[in-house]
Amino acid sequence: MFKKLNILDEREKCLHEVSKEVTFPLSKEDKTLIGRCIDHLTYSQIPKYEKKYDLRPGMGLAFPQLGILKRIIVIVYEVDEGVFDNYVFINPKIISNSEEVIAAEAGEGCLSVNREIEGHVPRYARVTVEGYDEDGNKIRVRAREDLAIAFQHEIDHLNGILFFEKIDKNHRFYSNDEIRLI
Ligand code: NI
Repeated sequence: MFKKLNILDEREKCLHEVSKEVTFPLSKEDKTLIGRCIDHLTYSQIPKYEKKYDLRPGMGLAFPQLGILKRIIVIVYEVDEGVFDNYVFINPKIISNSEEVIAAEAGEGCLSVNREIEGHVPRYARVTVEGYDEDGNKIRVRAREDLAIAFQHEIDHLNGILFFEKIDKNHRFYSNDEIRLI
């Protein structure tokens, strides 16, 4: 039976705190919660279930959004219609990034931010992320474009940073000549 996650709002203190490194083996509770994040994010991107369970569509979650200050992120990325890739990273670190900077043209959203915030968030166009899987094996991914943005957004959560803090108040929107908009 699917049970919707209780995702905390930006007003909660833990959304602004730095999460702690995780040690292995993972607890049973953490593994269960990772599974629930995958289910929640997947269902939220399938219109039928989004409606049925009254979900807000989202592709990523970080544990502090659930009130747990552990460095764990989950991204569910729709590669093709109805086909999803799951990324579970424990203690993720960006080990290299492109010089090129991009931004999501429509702005970013966050399941913990329940208000409209306009503006472009500058992000690296490509990042290489290293971390561990649920069993403690070292993993690495090279992400680009919207997936790269998702990784940067979720890793920011582990450092208590929300996307709108990265919007330049004096220059909320960029043109394509300044930053490539995707
Ligand atoms: Ni978020």
